[in-house]
Amino acid sequence: MTKKFNIAVIPGDGVGKEVVAEGIKVLNHMAEQSNGEFEFEYDYYPWGCEYYLEHGKMISDDGVEKMRGYDAIYFGAVGFPGVPDHVSLWGLRLAICQGLDQWANIRPVEFLPGVPRRVTHPDADNLNWLLIRENSEGEYSGIGGRNFDGRGEGQEVAVQTSLFTEKGCERIIRFAFDTARTRKRKKVTSVTKSNAQQYGMVLWDEVFERVSKEYPDVETDQWLVDAMAAQFVMHPEDLEVVVASNLFADILSDLGSALSGSLGIASSANLNPEGRTPSMFESVHGSAPDIAGKGIANPIGTIDSASLMLDHLGLKKEAKALHEAIRATTGKGILTRDIGGNYDTEDVTGTIIENLSAVTDKA
Ligand code: IPM
Ligand code: MG
Repeated sequence: MTKKFNIAVIPGDGVGKEVVAEGIKVLNHMAEQSNGEFEFEYDYYPWGCEYYLEHGKMISDDGVEKMRGYDAIYFGAVGFPGVPDHVSLWGLRLAICQGLDQWANIRPVEFLPGVPRRVTHPDADNLNWLLIRENSEGEYSGIGGRNFDGRGEGQEVAVQTSLFTEKGCERIIRFAFDTARTRKRKKVTSVTKSNAQQYGMVLWDEVFERVSKEYPDVETDQWLVDAMAAQFVMHPEDLEVVVASNLFADILSDLGSALSGSLGIASSANLNPEGRTPSMFESVHGSAPDIAGKGIANPIGTIDSASLMLDHLGLKKEAKALHEAIRATTGKGILTRDIGGNYDTEDVTGTIIENLSAVTDKA
């Protein structure tokens, strides 16, 4: 019987629309090649900055609830000039991540063949690590406020509070350990700044130490975030699974993708690991208004995020084949401008699809 997956598609703004269209082409191709094993049905949602300018909100009132009925959400990017970034982000992406309790965000860092990289490590081809981002609280708890504007110009006060709960720390740290057990090298590196952040991040460290005792087979390491940033550059061979708070992992993931060549190739998944709600798959890069509509955006981050989606949906073999097809594409030098090539978005997708047929024919 054909497995049917219902996917909510939110292309969003800017290049988000273009790269999501490419990802869908690839998914459709894979479904066609599956001999009726699986298929995708998509519902498109027009949420984003244009929607905001028309409706005064980024997502319809019942939007987050509607998402609950899907097997997964495929997301482009959000943000466009004319709508303040904090409005577009809190109004859509964060509203979904937090509203659906997608508390684990995973961001692989990998050095794709043929992509000019910014590490000098001689064995970079064989290095890869997984950044696990706490995705529900921490510095993104949205707790705080602004007040005192009555005091007059230059006197305003703003408070922004980070929230660390024992439950929040424990579930992401456990997830990191469980994930490490599935990898060749079983190691988890925890990143905080608990010397300066003496409450929330000390709680994180304590939970890390407690949980680590249940995983004696997994090696551990603990770093402060500033030193970890240096470690990403100087000793990437020491990294395997890196778990960090919402903001720290946000920053480290840009560093990781820049090291591997470009934000354009970085994939990510916002997961609700219990499967209580659908998970959401999106590239790490933003809406890039400066190149939107030109057909030159790098589709790899979004297509590789589709590979994470396939894996999450249980299509493990297909997920792997897609990732291999991406590697074969960059390996052949079919690269967009952000990674030193001269190819357009559609050229890259076309080659991925060709390579996919080559990979699946072999399988
Ligand atoms: C990311 C982005 C987002 C984040 C922004 C767009 C809110 O930088 O996904 O890494 O900080 O979570
Ligand atoms: Mg970011």
